[in-house]
Amino acid sequence: MLKDRFGRTIEYLRLSVTDRCDLRCEYCLPNGYHDFETPDEWLSFDEIEQVIRVFGQLGTRRIRITGGEPLVRAGVSALAQRLAALPGIEDLSLSTNATRLAKQAHALHDAGISRINVSLDSLRADRYKQMTGGKLQKVLDGLMAARAAGFQPIKINMVVMRDRNDDEIEDMVAFCIQHDFTLRLIETMPMGDTGRSASQHYVNLQDIKARLAQRYELIDSMMPGGGPARYVQVAGTDLRIGFITPISQHFCESCNRVRLSVDGTLHMCLGQNDSYPLRDILRHGCSDEELRQHILAAIELKPERHEFTEAPEKIVRFMSYTGG
Ligand code: GTP
Ligand code: 5AD
Ligand code: SF4
Repeated sequence: MLKDRFGRTIEYLRLSVTDRCDLRCEYCLPNGYHDFETPDEWLSFDEIEQVIRVFGQLGTRRIRITGGEPLVRAGVSALAQRLAALPGIEDLSLSTNATRLAKQAHALHDAGISRINVSLDSLRADRYKQMTGGKLQKVLDGLMAARAAGFQPIKINMVVMRDRNDDEIEDMVAFCIQHDFTLRLIETMPMGDTGRSASQHYVNLQDIKARLAQRYELIDSMMPGGGPARYVQVAGTDLRIGFITPISQHFCESCNRVRLSVDGTLHMCLGQNDSYPLRDILRHGCSDEELRQHILAAIELKPERHEFTEAPEKIVRFMSYTGG
């Protein structure tokens, strides 16, 4: 088992297969941004497989494929199939914006991905376009295809922003009840310039929970998953609502994860700059045992907590680079 300096067990790796994205969410990527990593800088599928194999040997049982938008990289289902077959990997999941999911849902499910989380900030096409630059209908088609392919659960990730979509939470609740999706509400984090300006629209989710509690009876609940959401169930329905509250109630003391970005850098915390580059090590043909020593050294660097509140200017990376 991987343990960090603070006694936390690391059993969850978030794997970013690309920093590119076909959307420009207001809180993530600036409009017109194109300064992405080039293909020679991306870890190859062979290199990724070696890293995940060694993490698996070290007790990491959950892998989440993410991006950027992971489905803009060709061959993700082939990669998923290779990762699902590795010893120790019990939970292979995907976070996507779903714009390209309709075509790929079946292949991804067949490859061994059992759960998906889909970013969806608004159910109004004009608003969705304004917040993300994308077409809502594609996402809805992707969600229906995911349901048909057999993904369970399907979680909807909604970043809640004042004067953008905070009036739509009840609509999203009804939508998720209707389609048997899980709803997760997320607080905006000051990551990169975009995250910082979006944080001017920050909404404290404790207030939203109180608002929902006036309308629905909310019962504390749980969901399968490795992430930081705290769940309630809406009484009389199967709907669970997860609150992801990095700002108002951070969850760093129970952090169980690290991130591997597309260029092969291990990022030890979303809200800190501690990192460990693996790409050159991999390209020099390191053995699994050597890689294992590097991973152990990297885990030693994992910081105690983020400082989004104390030092909001600290993180210049966009979420799409680190892995959402
Ligand atoms: P489950 O295994 O289904 O619980 O997934 P998850 O919540 O770990 O994954 P997902 O990709 O859906 O993450 C949702 C959001 O939670 C991310 O986009 C981030 O906004 C936030 N999040 C996830 N991990 C961290 C973390 O380590 N720190 C912080 N501050 N936020 C995180
Ligand atoms: N704050 C909070 N969540 C963010 N995401 C991207 N940028 C931010 C941010 N600044 C998350 C969203 C999206 C996922 C890919 O990344 O939850 O669903
Ligand atoms: Fe793309 Fe996700 Fe960033 Fe939106 S939040 S721009 S979908 S990477």
